[in-house]
Amino acid sequence: MITTDLDLVIKALKNGQIVSIPTETVYGLAGNAFDEVSIDKIFELKKRPAFNPLIVHIPDVEFLDHVAEEIPENAKLLAAHFWPGPLTLILKKKPSISNRITAAKNTLAVRVTNHPLTLELLKKLPFPLAAPSANPFGSISPTSAEHVHNYFGEKVPFILDGGSCKKGLESTIIGFENQKPILYRHGALALERIEKVIGPVTEFIKNDQNPQAPGMLSKHYAPKTKTIRSDNLLETIANCKTKKIGVLSFQKTELPEGTIHQEILSEGGDLEEAAKNLYAALHHLDELQLELLIVPFFPNHGLGKTINDRLQRAVLK
Ligand code: TXA
Ligand code: MG
Repeated sequence: MITTDLDLVIKALKNGQIVSIPTETVYGLAGNAFDEVSIDKIFELKKRPAFNPLIVHIPDVEFLDHVAEEIPENAKLLAAHFWPGPLTLILKKKPSISNRITAAKNTLAVRVTNHPLTLELLKKLPFPLAAPSANPFGSISPTSAEHVHNYFGEKVPFILDGGSCKKGLESTIIGFENQKPILYRHGALALERIEKVIGPVTEFIKNDQNPQAPGMLSKHYAPKTKTIRSDNLLETIANCKTKKIGVLSFQKTELPEGTIHQEILSEGGDLEEAAKNLYAALHHLDELQLELLIVPFFPNHGLGKTINDRLQRAVLK
């Protein structure tokens, strides 16, 4: 059920049920982070492999001491700058945090969302929420209550409706190795903004055999439709005339007449607007039973980097 009734959602969470919550990035699948049964239910619903740890959502920066310890100075700086906001920090976990949440790692992913409804919810609850994105493992993240409902139906009894997500891309993930900052996932907070606060950040080298952050698996965030990337849309379309084609465009682009369906992410070419619209456009294109989806390359700076990262994972099969 899609609802805006916080009391209903609070009651369900206290009873160990799993609900969906809005955040500024994407919708989450949330349960009591201090309850192992709830945590197991989240893994089961998402069909998420047990090696892939969850993010814990806390109500404010002060709560950090209940879940993490030995917090690096740079992590404190980032939290002060960007929380509440689309940044996840990987920190040493408190021994009291369940190994199930962290997939037996000694680190925990934690963030403070700036969605007003979910912040209010977190402030009213006596426990933090474990909440990965509310999509089956490997598929496109949901940016509206309807997307979540389409994925899970009544298996998720309550979806807290907070409208469509303002950022539309998952949070940026930063961890620390020997105090040195590491980027584990490009996200809704541009890396350039983080580097302005703490200096250069090393990008984590992908390794599918031992994924530190499985969001870094090469294939992820994938539509069901066969998808290819192109830096020349018109030429690519001309080369596959006979197919039922869908096109994802960054800006307004004139395409040849025909049966082609086009989704324009930002008429005026604004990366933030494109980011916000990206997943909804992919969800929509994926429903059209297309034979082929053609997606472009974005300018490789700011949020364009995150969009390119997601589209690259979407084309791998
Ligand atoms: O924007 C977001 O971050 C959304 C909203 C709902 O908060 N959540 C989200 O969660 O994207 P999820 O679980 O889909 O992605 C979390 C990523 C995963 O790739 C996971 O592997 C990584 O965080 N992660 C979690 N704990 C980690 C840890 N201790 N070390 C390294 N990576 C970790
Ligand atoms: Mg996810």
